[in-house]
Amino acid sequence: MTEEQYYEFIQPYEDAKQMLLTRLDVLNHTLYEEAASRPIHNIQARLKKKESMEGKLAKKGKEATVENAKDYLKDIAGLRVICYFVDDIYNLADILKSQTDLVIIQERDYIASPKPNGYRSYHLIVGVPVYCLDGMEYFPVEIQFRTMSMDFWASMEHRITYKKEREDKERLQEEFREYANMLVEIEKRFEQYNDVGHLC
Ligand code: GTP
Ligand code: MG
Repeated sequence: MTEEQYYEFIQPYEDAKQMLLTRLDVLNHTLYEEAASRPIHNIQARLKKKESMEGKLAKKGKEATVENAKDYLKDIAGLRVICYFVDDIYNLADILKSQTDLVIIQERDYIASPKPNGYRSYHLIVGVPVYCLDGMEYFPVEIQFRTMSMDFWASMEHRITYKKEREDKERLQEEFREYANMLVEIEKRFEQYNDVGHLC
């Protein structure tokens, strides 16, 4: 994949990402009646870099072409939506799922079923319609919904274990799971003060 091919290829993913960002922004200030109880704390958005796409395709045993990137990578555009409460996550996800112009490609609820290491997050891969001169095509955007404490945990876990082959992997996994459980407890204590999120 040349630099030129990459820049042309990535454009509709940028458009799809931007469209979802706007939609989430609207939901953030219209979801609840009370302005003081907006569900989203912040959103991070990213597009996969060329090198990162090539690396992931190699891992999947695929040649690094734009065709393969399109066929095999569903996380080229990514949003991380950091919310205050778990309820906010499900309320936002439910509304996105009900918007009929979007298609739901994949849903993974690691809040209801955390990973063995304790990873929690709600993942939705959404197909977003992008219009160009030749018509319309859906482009996937991966949305990771997290609370602030889920994001804190995931950022630390990523920092400490990413790309590291450690001998103490099992012990570390157990330790991280313990921290995840502690954070769930803290989250629950904050939840008791979440009495303001009335849906509009
Ligand atoms: P990838 O090949 O990494 O995209 O994983 P996948 O296709 O099996 O999908 P999954 O839903 O499990 O993970 C997608 C993304 O969620 C990852 O790229 C990470 O950003 C995040 N994620 C998943 N598991 C973990 C984890 O154990 N720790 C952290 N820090 N992030 C995770
Ligand atoms: Mg990924």
